[in-house]
Amino acid sequence: GATGSPVTLSVNDAPVEVEVDHRTTLLDLLRERLALTGSKKGCDHGQCGACTVLVDGRRVNSCLLLAVAVDGCAVVTVEGLARTEDADGDLHPIQRAFLERDAFQCGYCTPGQLCSAVGMLAEARSGQPSVVTDPALAADGPVPLTDEEIRERMSGNLCRCGAYPHIVEAVQDVVS
Ligand code: FES
Ligand code: FES
Repeated sequence: GATGSPVTLSVNDAPVEVEVDHRTTLLDLLRERLALTGSKKGCDHGQCGACTVLVDGRRVNSCLLLAVAVDGCAVVTVEGLARTEDADGDLHPIQRAFLERDAFQCGYCTPGQLCSAVGMLAEARSGQPSVVTDPALAADGPVPLTDEEIRERMSGNLCRCGAYPHIVEAVQDVVS
């Protein structure tokens, strides 16, 4: 429309050029314009983490981020996790661990949990609390985290089904 702004980004390694209304969130861009419905709209207010995606390697609540703010960024959603560096082209290790540990029930929170876990591991590996600036720092390697630390670092991702114990187990499988 008349208020559209051009936005150029990459989504799961594919170049995307769209015109978006300045009020459009990244979540709505992904779900409604790009048909990437893996990222879920739970609360739409930054409270549940179901919409978590990675922007330049950093986990964000995509319901809080305007699409115009990700101009020039690299976005990875749950649909793209299997194509990231430490994946084997099939499943990302964290996806495999979630399957093996039964770390979901209804699955609604799962895409956000998975993206959050990947971002959290990169943060832990870099020693930074939240921002990963150097992708090399997010390289593979064991990260000693206690169950309590994992719970704390993943506390922005709610699970109505209470799958937390198995989620922590799955994350431990990948970090240790
Ligand atoms: Fe974004 Fe709940 S939908 S935090
Ligand atoms: Fe149902 Fe987490 S598995 S909300």
